[in-house]
Amino acid sequence: MCGIIGILGKSDAVSLMVTALKRLEYRGYDSAGIATVTDGVLGCRRAVGKLVELEATLATAPLQGKAGIGHTRWATHGAPTTANAHPHIAGPVAVVHNGIIENFRPLRDELRAAGAKFTSETDTEVVAQLCAANIAAGMTPQQAVDATLKRLEGAFALAFLFAGHDNLMIAARRGSPLAIGHGDGEMFIGSDALALAPMTNRVTYLEEGDWAVVTRDGAKIYDALGNLANRELRVVNVDSVMIDKGTHRHFMAKEIHEQPSVLAFALSHYLNANRTAVVVPEGDLDFSQFNRIVMVACGTAFYACHVAKYWFEQHARIPVEIDVASEFRYREPPISPRDLVIFVSQSGETADTLAALRYVKDKAGLVVAVINAPESSIAREADLALPIKAGVEVSVASSKAFTCQLAVFAALSILAARQCGKIEASAETALIQKLTQLPRLINEALAQEPAMALIARDLAKARDILFLGRGTMFPLALEGALKLKELSYIHAEGYASGELKHGPIALIDESVPVICFAPVDPLFDKTVSNMQEVMARGGKVLLVTDAEGAERASDGVWKTLILPKIDPFLAPVIYAIPAQMLAYHTAIEKGTDVDQPRNLAKSVTVE
Ligand code: M6R
Repeated sequence: MCGIIGILGKSDAVSLMVTALKRLEYRGYDSAGIATVTDGVLGCRRAVGKLVELEATLATAPLQGKAGIGHTRWATHGAPTTANAHPHIAGPVAVVHNGIIENFRPLRDELRAAGAKFTSETDTEVVAQLCAANIAAGMTPQQAVDATLKRLEGAFALAFLFAGHDNLMIAARRGSPLAIGHGDGEMFIGSDALALAPMTNRVTYLEEGDWAVVTRDGAKIYDALGNLANRELRVVNVDSVMIDKGTHRHFMAKEIHEQPSVLAFALSHYLNANRTAVVVPEGDLDFSQFNRIVMVACGTAFYACHVAKYWFEQHARIPVEIDVASEFRYREPPISPRDLVIFVSQSGETADTLAALRYVKDKAGLVVAVINAPESSIAREADLALPIKAGVEVSVASSKAFTCQLAVFAALSILAARQCGKIEASAETALIQKLTQLPRLINEALAQEPAMALIARDLAKARDILFLGRGTMFPLALEGALKLKELSYIHAEGYASGELKHGPIALIDESVPVICFAPVDPLFDKTVSNMQEVMARGGKVLLVTDAEGAERASDGVWKTLILPKIDPFLAPVIYAIPAQMLAYHTAIEKGTDVDQPRNLAKSVTVE
């Protein structure tokens, strides 16, 4: 997954492209590059690493131009090198690409046989070479792109620039999102509206199979069959102020500390003015119409589904199935009109989740998206899009999006219980009352940051770390392990506490910290028994619990972290704080790149 920008502007496009690419860096940061066309001549600068490296390159070797395309890369085919960085240029054609050209090998062989010289290991270069060969054969740029697109297989978004054409860009979408931005005598292309926000808020989203011929006068959009298509021009509400870290050292720290306020905002969206009932302002959602809920997502969003499964089943007695999106559609699960299928995604652009949504679209009774990015592909393709209201999340490791997803599902589970006749009005009010205490309780948990930072000093010395939890603490253990792995690069695994004795207990020795999430709840004693089994084998346990739990079970443990007392229903939201904080501070101890960990990207737009 990569980020694409294109500008046909009235003044210097290079600095604008760098600004826009910074907004797309969440899609990948292995390399970046820019190509311009000025007086018909293509120029290009590329650099390995983050945008700052490209800025340094541009400072020593400036590039001019009012028209250009730019790219920030998450490597798929070929290592992060300058040669593999986009744009790729062949003859008069410059190309930037997000996605994968699945048939690039036979195309490359064919082009090589015809004399083409390849300079990179990427799948993208075949697009530039093929288009250049078409132009060499006498086609116009538009005809050449049309003919090129017909040869490509895979999921991609592309932007083309041409030598000899200072007022032309061509964009194409098949599987990966792409938006056209409309300015005043200027036109833009971007992977998302956030990238375009500093330039314009008037946006046309290309639909599946569309391609667009863009000049400063506007865009002509063609559908997959080559017919002129009329696509809606929307005015989008994307914050055009550059997102900053405030007083925090990292975006992740800022986003962790924002949780009390964004979660309060999310809750206020889903509660009526008196805070006596859950409401869905976006439209009709009646859980009683369905026999089953199916929830699909990736990574942290999947763990939010995992928690939600407990809530929907316990409160509303509706069976819930959950699956990771990358597996879901390939097992061809039966989906019926009595199924409510919920897709969860912070970015709303995750390719696996989007593909799973398309699989159920004509089969399910209702397709709901629970998303953070309201203008995203997943939001637009679902029947009903429910926002989590977390605000822009920049850090690659998800934090506030997770707790806001949990808050939304906690509220929806209460709504479902009411609609299915499984809860008395008084019990409903009591649960809502508990929900509204979450922002305060998160604040109390955040106050334990110094204790968590101290513990992280020791965790940073470990090679392997295990996380344990029962009930809703099991997905929290999974989330804690994921957060630690991606931020600190320490190997970590999450297990259901009771599962440890079925194999993983063989890993236990005095060098492996075992982090037990154990609020006092009906499962507490069972978790403590599992913890004792670890300690009996020399394992060192970090017990994360409340004051009562510490009183009852701290004997013999390595360390104890005390969180506020919380109703078991809402414990997952509060125990997300140590899951995030321990990973964050361990990463700081290890000196890793907290906001942009190696090998990752914020939005994963390839399968
Ligand atoms: O944007 P999405 O919520 O669809 O992203 C899903 C995962 O890629 C994401 O949660 C990932 O696991 C995060 N890096 C976890 O911190």
